[in-house]
Amino acid sequence: MAAEALEAQRGTGDQRLVFPPGFRWGVATASHQYEGNTLNNQWTAWERAGGIRSGDQAGLACDWWRNAERDFDLAQEMGLNALRLSLEWSRIEPRAGEWDDTAISRYREMLTGLRERGIEPMVTLHHFTHPLWFEQRGAFLSRDAVERFTRYVAHVVSALGDLCDFWCTINEPNVYSAFGYELGDFPPGRRGDLWGALRSQMTMALAHAAAYREIHRLQPAARVGWAHHYNVFTPAHPSSPFDRLVAGLQDAVFNDFFPRAVRTGTAVFPLSLAARDLNAVRGTCDFVGINVYYRDLVRFDMRSASQLFGKRFPARGAIRSDQPVGEELSEVFPQGIAQVARRAAEFGVPVYVTENGVADREDRVRPWLIVQAAKAMHGTIADGVDLRGYYHWSLVDDFEWAQGWKLRFGLYALDVASQQRVKRPSARLYGAIARANALSEEMVREFAPDALADIFTQISAG
Ligand code: BGC
Repeated sequence: MAAEALEAQRGTGDQRLVFPPGFRWGVATASHQYEGNTLNNQWTAWERAGGIRSGDQAGLACDWWRNAERDFDLAQEMGLNALRLSLEWSRIEPRAGEWDDTAISRYREMLTGLRERGIEPMVTLHHFTHPLWFEQRGAFLSRDAVERFTRYVAHVVSALGDLCDFWCTINEPNVYSAFGYELGDFPPGRRGDLWGALRSQMTMALAHAAAYREIHRLQPAARVGWAHHYNVFTPAHPSSPFDRLVAGLQDAVFNDFFPRAVRTGTAVFPLSLAARDLNAVRGTCDFVGINVYYRDLVRFDMRSASQLFGKRFPARGAIRSDQPVGEELSEVFPQGIAQVARRAAEFGVPVYVTENGVADREDRVRPWLIVQAAKAMHGTIADGVDLRGYYHWSLVDDFEWAQGWKLRFGLYALDVASQQRVKRPSARLYGAIARANALSEEMVREFAPDALADIFTQISAG
């Protein structure tokens, strides 16, 4: 998509950031967080065993298994042309080697429903959940994990390939591994198991690569990538070599292990000491998905040994979400899309923002986030990055893993008991952007007036 296709018009009161034709404006979702009654996966078992402090359970979630179409209608009304959803492996292969055709039929119905509404599906094959039997065998630490995952992928691509050619193998392998093995907030709930975190991520890289090849064998024209969580780590004092060192370390370990494996087939030192042969992983992506939410400042701190001597904290005066990190609330940092997308562009394939959003029950900062994200993307595309779409997390309030129902990420508010949806102002804003394929001054004035100077200064000054 050529940067020349972009316009940034100047005028009296009607400046606009115009996006390239065909830009994808979508929303991102995931099976366990939306479908309801995903009873046969490791997350439901974890919730039932008291794994979540608040005692919340996903339960009926957004009731998609019975009626995803209600929300597809909302996405269509907003003028969206893309939606990212995931398949629930535990429905498709409830017992190892046994396939459930009724699950496939329901997914066929859902994908058809999206296409009929002019919405292109991007399908994630693993978004944090898998069948209980897979967990009981050790999940991605088991010897045959790659083979099991690839067999499942082959099954679904054969069954759904006529309705989808846009596949995201694995969602956020770095978050899955860190939360499951180091921090204990996700099943299997291990704490401090750095070796488990590293090994599971390594196996996920191999599983991703095997899935990539299998999908292309079955569907040569498929577009296959994965969605990676990038946290922005900024040295607290950029002039301090120690702060720079520890911020760089956090980045290398958390952000870069998986991408480096895909880009180069190698692991960074010291992880390389433990890495298996990653050569097969090299070059296995047709696009890179970036999930961008947060930024942490990092300061060198001898007492933070478990965090590689880097103390992480939100910037003073930062715009905050409702999401706690330690004693504080996390910083919302949509501007980070610009630097992360440039970095992802090094792969030489198209980039998609596969997630960006904010926990914000009152919709105080979401409009600000959306316009800042649009501005960051527009600038990045103008600089020549092949950024092709944005999937806002999320369409409706969803079940937020360890935080349960406390955090609200939806463009629509959801009352879980009655399943009623209420449109937040952000949904009106996002719909207006999607329909116009542009962000206009008028939209910013109406929905995020405080951001006006930020969004349009450069153009006015230019
Ligand atoms: C995950 C989503 C989650 C979102 C907001 C991402 O890390 O992929 O499943 O809901 O963050 O917390």
